[in-house]
Amino acid sequence: DLGHYRHYMQKEIFEQPTAIANTLQRVVELGCQSALFGPEADALFAAAPAVRIVACGSSYHAGLVARYWIEEWTGLPVSVDIASEYRYRKGREQDGTLIIAISQSGETADLLAAMRSARERGDVKVLAICNVPHSTLTRESDLLFLTQAGLEIGVASTKAFTTQLVALYVFAAALARSRKTLEAAQLTEITDALHRLPVLVEEVLAMDSKLEAWAQELAHYHNALFLGRHTLFPIALEGALKLKEIAYIHAEGYAAGELKHGPLALVDEDMPVIACAVNDELLEKVVSNLREVQARSGKVFLLAEPGCESAHEGSHRVLTLPAAAGPLAPVVLTLPLQMLSYHTACRKGTDVDKPRNLAKSVTVE
Ligand code: F6R
Repeated sequence: DLGHYRHYMQKEIFEQPTAIANTLQRVVELGCQSALFGPEADALFAAAPAVRIVACGSSYHAGLVARYWIEEWTGLPVSVDIASEYRYRKGREQDGTLIIAISQSGETADLLAAMRSARERGDVKVLAICNVPHSTLTRESDLLFLTQAGLEIGVASTKAFTTQLVALYVFAAALARSRKTLEAAQLTEITDALHRLPVLVEEVLAMDSKLEAWAQELAHYHNALFLGRHTLFPIALEGALKLKEIAYIHAEGYAAGELKHGPLALVDEDMPVIACAVNDELLEKVVSNLREVQARSGKVFLLAEPGCESAHEGSHRVLTLPAAAGPLAPVVLTLPLQMLSYHTACRKGTDVDKPRNLAKSVTVE
């Protein structure tokens, strides 16, 4: 039932505060701890020599974000692989490696093949992050965390993606707890940030009309670049994927530091650049990347947390988010990008919920 929404995708974007709160329900009771992943998790988390993440599409982007959290909080080596590539590579896995298989549907053929292939490469354990309780992935995994996004009908992943991010954040914190790599105070701070998330997400959703106005402009272009650094680099990839798949606008996501290594050659007045910025130690690097764009007449559409005023000057449009989200910034900044793509697609009149050529669950290779 669509209620007052025009599309399932729109409805699912607006369901994110609830989807996130539901995913966090047991975390609120227990904190970020290994028991959330299964009774065996604590011993496996404590002993793991490495983490390998496999997934496809948006789920892969969630894995790319998680790498920053896991590395920073545990010091463990983390690799993130596209499932369709990993399955045909020949490497071995160290015994005890945690394989994190991320999938909304739990039925993606390449993902299942990658998981099975990992088991042949070493004595590994598979942790599934999945939104469908009785799926092939959940049946074949050793450890499980179910996202509580509810049924997602729109082909483009929205609430499934942000709840995957939340699950991975909880996993990274639980891993750090089992391995004793963080001080108690740091763990408390990381966990407390989660409690504010549903409200923050709600406040970002209230900015919908501003993104709708941006979309009126964006719909006129044939190309777009999305830029971010650190945890916002994968969010740039995700923003570009959303625009491609539902608005049929060619878009590329880049780590902002890569601009000079090639894509800057594309920038002119016809190349809008959607940039994400937070007030961290990399802000001034992002600002100088944006100057490079502006010097070539590129129009910058800036999504920024408070405290990024140095990035405002020269930007074509600026949207300031209600509050800083610390390590959860990638979750919060995903929402305006979803809304931007959604409204751009509506403006172009595409079939938002069922984009051409795509299926919700890719059960064939
Ligand atoms: C993009 C999208 C796809 C899926 C991908 C993986 O919006 O929805 O890229 O993320 O097909 O699907 P799951 O997560 O079901 O394995």
